[in-house]
Amino acid sequence: MKAIVLAGGSGTRLWPLSRKDYPKQFLKLNGGKSLLRQTVDRLLLFLNPEDILILTCEHYKFHVKAHLVDLSGYHLLCEPHARNTGPAIAYGFKYALEKWGLPSDEPVLICPSDHLIEPEDVFAETVQKAAQVAKEGFLVTFGITPSRPETGYGYIKQGERLKEVNDFSAYKVARFTEKPDVATAENYLKEGGYYWNAGIFLFTPETFSKELATCAPDIFALYDNDFDTLTSKFAEMPDISIDYALMEKSSQVAVVPLSLYWNDIGSWDALFDVLEKDSSGNAQTGRVITIDTENSMILGQKRLIATIGLEDHLVVETPDAILIVKKGEAQKVSNLVKQLKNEG
Ligand code: GDD
Ligand code: MG
Repeated sequence: MKAIVLAGGSGTRLWPLSRKDYPKQFLKLNGGKSLLRQTVDRLLLFLNPEDILILTCEHYKFHVKAHLVDLSGYHLLCEPHARNTGPAIAYGFKYALEKWGLPSDEPVLICPSDHLIEPEDVFAETVQKAAQVAKEGFLVTFGITPSRPETGYGYIKQGERLKEVNDFSAYKVARFTEKPDVATAENYLKEGGYYWNAGIFLFTPETFSKELATCAPDIFALYDNDFDTLTSKFAEMPDISIDYALMEKSSQVAVVPLSLYWNDIGSWDALFDVLEKDSSGNAQTGRVITIDTENSMILGQKRLIATIGLEDHLVVETPDAILIVKKGEAQKVSNLVKQLKNEG
């Protein structure tokens, strides 16, 4: 098995800490290691550095190198243009086949670089068992039991059972729906039999190529070139995620449930959930003084932050911007960033 780590996203939902210049995968949100480094270390439990390709863009290349400074032998590839995860993965696969010498029936794990996963040995074990399902010609996804009608995730409807050995199961996917609206997500939860898509995939270059030709002929037409031609034509790729381009359309999708703690820290609310709290339910960093403050997250960098009578709020201070958001409303931060972009 090999792995491609997706480290080219410019995540805006953790604004003002995650910026276009220094996005979420490089942040140390839960201790000493960045999320990218945690991702690579997790893979090193069952792979060698030579088996790992970090896929990013020119802009983040030096950040990646800095975060993996003590590691050698891994591959690093930069897409010529940002076209989201569909075209990015196609680029990674073309590199793997042509420059890395990957056999077309070798399963490749596609990993986001900005998740928390525990325990790591359960992850390593499940992923290795799932390789068999990938070898049988499936685009394997990994499913998390949903706990709320989150609209930032893909939803996977479990279909017929493909495999059950001891504590490992795999199912066909009856339907994959990327980022449904809240009413649809609520219905899925009521109905039952759905998973969240963990954003981690496992498939062989052979299956990828076959499904791409059927489901995303525009991407396939460019993919069906040699690596150098693909590089020079990459700007012509559509801007689309793998979820919309392949997973929603393919009839060859399987899901392997992951029985572990998974958090994509997709918002300040999600980060607050994982931070350690004091006896008043507050999580804080930096210079903070509080009176009658409860269930709030206060993250400071430089300035003193003082709060009185604050409840259920999230405060994030950076040198040039301060965010104050009511707990439960942090998904709207991406709307705010859009507004900021429009204002130039
Ligand atoms: N190389 C590269 N190039 N990486 C990229 C690009 C790109 O153009 N765009 C995004 N990435 C990386 C991000 O850095 C992240 O590690 C990963 O790809 C996923 O991208 P996100 O933008 O974070 O996707 P998402 O969170 O909105 O949705 C995906 O993940 C969810 C779970 O966290 C989907 O797969 C959902 O279905 C899934 O539920
Ligand atoms: Mg994400």
